[in-house]
Amino acid sequence: MQRAVRALLGSRWPLLGMAGALAAVVVAIIVAATGGSLAQAALALLLGLTLIGLVVVGSSAREAEQRARKTEKQLKSLADSVASVATSVQAVEARQNDPSGGPLAAIIGAQRLDAAVRHDELVALHEGLRADLHATLTEQQLAELSALANLYAMLGADDEVPAFGGFAASPQTVLRLASLVRRLPADALIVECGSGSSTVWLALACRKAGKGRVVALEHHELYAGRTREALARHGLGDVAEVRAAPLEPVTVGGEKHDWYAAPQWTDLRGIDLLFVDGPPGSVGPRSRYPAFPLLATALDDGAVVALDDAQRPDEADIAADWLAEAVDGVRLADDDLVGRTRFFTATR
Ligand SMILES: C[S@@+](CC[C@H](N)C(=O)[O-])C[C@H]1O[C@@H](n2cnc3c(N)ncnc32)[C@H](O)[C@@H]1O
Repeated sequence: MQRAVRALLGSRWPLLGMAGALAAVVVAIIVAATGGSLAQAALALLLGLTLIGLVVVGSSAREAEQRARKTEKQLKSLADSVASVATSVQAVEARQNDPSGGPLAAIIGAQRLDAAVRHDELVALHEGLRADLHATLTEQQLAELSALANLYAMLGADDEVPAFGGFAASPQTVLRLASLVRRLPADALIVECGSGSSTVWLALACRKAGKGRVVALEHHELYAGRTREALARHGLGDVAEVRAAPLEPVTVGGEKHDWYAAPQWTDLRGIDLLFVDGPPGSVGPRSRYPAFPLLATALDDGAVVALDDAQRPDEADIAADWLAEAVDGVRLADDDLVGRTRFFTATR
């Protein structure tokens, strides 16, 4: 019935209601003006007012219905959003549980690849920079050059000296040895294991200082001869002596070694400076180890011991052993590292 009335009236019902109300009021006025029944006039007026009331209530109800529909629509949209978020959460959970890592792993993989490419670019850049740097001098080369200039200024050399480089001790090492000579006693004894350019420079330092003498042990006749020639060129034969000392088997610290033949060094006493630069590593492992155990008792109190090539594993090992052991009450204390040479001081 309500639907039928709504269908009949459609959206025109407020207009029709107001028109009916107006008609009822007009009827009430006419009845009253023509002297008709007062009850009839009041009834018509009441009908008019009722129609106005119905139009007002109907309009309010319609507005409320429209608001309810809008709210319902918003609720539905909210529910759709919640459902969509839930779906996304489920999808993320599914990706996290995917053993292959899913699309997230693909993204991370792509980023890793990008990082690897950047890494390669940086390595190439670094290599380029290094190559540029090497075109100039490294810190180490500069230090050696400066030591060389210092050495020539200090000692001069008016004839050819065996070259630095290769088997020879570095200028930094020789400079330190030469400057130590100036502080040694007047009758200082300097012993060298392995002869060469260092022998000549040490002898030049002794002559300049006016004190000390050098004894170099050399296992190789060829190099013994060359060093002697160099010493003779400089007129240093009275300051330095090269002793040809073939290597012979010796057992020290429970280890077998080949070291300089004993007759060439057993007479040496009161050594103030011992430079251990031989025998070469090609002779055998830890080839320089016997120097301290065998010559310890010949060292003066406060003598300086220098071990070259201290950066090599064998020599690092030897230095550690020397520092740990006492030979007839003689011990070594660690001093400086100069270039690649480690210096020690002997105490009794
Ligand atoms: C490290 S070198 C000693 C170098 C020396 N103290 C100097 O600073 O000039 C040790 C031994 O290597 C040998 N030696 C020297 N020059 C060599 C060379 N050019 N090739 C192969 N052996 C060499 C010698 O027998 C030397 O006693």
